[in-house]
Amino acid sequence: MALYAKAADILEKVESKQGAVKTLVFESKFQNIKQLFALVCETQKYSSVLQELIESTKLLKQTKVKMTQAKVLVYDLLIGQGIKCGGPWKVMMTKHRARLEAALARMKIKQKVTKNRDLLPSSVQQAEGVLLPRYVRVNTLKTTVDDAVDYFKRDGFSYLGEANRLDDLDLKAKSFVRDLHLSDLLVFAPKTEFHEHFLYKAGHIILQDKASCLPAFLLNPPANSHVIDACAAPGNKTSHLAAIMKNKGRLFAFDLDAKRLSTMSTLLLRAGVRCHQLAHQDFLKVDPSDPQYKDVEYVLLDPSCSGSGMVCLGTDASPPDPEREQRRLGNLAAFQLRCLNHALGFPRLQRLVYSTCSVHTEENEKVVAAGLQQNPGFRLVHLLPVWPERGLQPLSQCLRASTTKTLTHGFFVALLERHSDAVSRAPPSLEECSRDIFAIFFFNLQFFLKIYILNNAPAKKRKRKKKRAPPMQ
Ligand SMILES: C[S@@+](CC[C@H](N)C(=O)[O-])C[C@H]1O[C@@H](n2cnc3c(N)ncnc32)[C@H](O)[C@@H]1O
Repeated sequence: MALYAKAADILEKVESKQGAVKTLVFESKFQNIKQLFALVCETQKYSSVLQELIESTKLLKQTKVKMTQAKVLVYDLLIGQGIKCGGPWKVMMTKHRARLEAALARMKIKQKVTKNRDLLPSSVQQAEGVLLPRYVRVNTLKTTVDDAVDYFKRDGFSYLGEANRLDDLDLKAKSFVRDLHLSDLLVFAPKTEFHEHFLYKAGHIILQDKASCLPAFLLNPPANSHVIDACAAPGNKTSHLAAIMKNKGRLFAFDLDAKRLSTMSTLLLRAGVRCHQLAHQDFLKVDPSDPQYKDVEYVLLDPSCSGSGMVCLGTDASPPDPEREQRRLGNLAAFQLRCLNHALGFPRLQRLVYSTCSVHTEENEKVVAAGLQQNPGFRLVHLLPVWPERGLQPLSQCLRASTTKTLTHGFFVALLERHSDAVSRAPPSLEECSRDIFAIFFFNLQFFLKIYILNNAPAKKRKRKKKRAPPMQ
């Protein structure tokens, strides 16, 4: 019920021009943002169709729900994946189901169409033409890419081998390829549904956009390393990191949001991740000098962002208030830079990936440039030369991603590496201090011992030494 109440609330605000879908969904702090985002987007897309159905069946009078609540419920009942809640709303919708289905069937006959999608206004249908491939990351903690390919082949999909060009990712239904950039990624036709598939339910595959696979792939921490995932929930990148680390080493994952962490915990369990340590904690309050982080050499920083790169094609018609949007971007960028500076303060850090699903330079290149300026011991690594979309000048070492140039959601990734120890080192930890004090003490002890031995050596030896000394000229 919470999902529908929240979706209806957001839809109402969107329809009364109080904000954009992406912004409102991200600000809602709902546990499953993707699910909420998809429900609001799809309902909005079918808004005029749903309104007609609701009015023709007089649903509002008979149920006393509001129009936006009726829209999200009718959408999921007739077009989406079925009502996903229990309680009074489920009972109510089940009671009116037959009448609503009949009204939908009448509407299709009247418009001479067979599919629900054909009922959409032509402007929405045109925007729907831009569809992203369905990306499937093989979870190498549970299976291999070859085994997953074999499974899909037995399941009736036809395998076309490894893609060579971006155009090869334009696939027909029931065919798939291996991605040209990421070796553990399979690519299927848009909207291929896997949520009910055995491999998905068993955690052998993860449904993750290609761009969002880049951060862990580029950070590439070796097995047995110590890694921090600073803003980790719901944990797709954490599970990717664990797979790259072969479940060996230590993976500290932090998030502020308890609900998202609990979802994450379930996802990691399903994915067979074992090397992680989840903490419900503000990353900015994690102490870099705490001895437990003394061996952390890798950080993945994927902080909260505007989400402006997440595609909800053709539906987000409401223009955001520019002043409010600018203020929001400024606040986000300040938070992102604080996170970046904090992460760069871990004493043994060697490599850090910074990523966002935003298209705004304020949250991307500008944050990274400021971070580099304030931490001169780090520099940018030139990423994937074959990647077609680069960071905006002068940060062309970074990657950008978009629906048009990379067939993904909008995204940004930068990789920073330490190149000098002389600057931007965090103050040493207590353990490091005591180790250094002990080393100095030991060195001095050796020195005084030598002097003592020399001064107290037997007199005979000293005399002999004197005899052997060359005569003075
Ligand atoms: C973009 S999402 C991370 C997505 C995640 N990396 C993944 O791939 O599944 C940003 C996350 O940062 C968390 N967050 C925001 N502020 C934080 C803070 N100060 N410390 C830790 N986590 C924070 C949010 O709760 C949210 O879950």
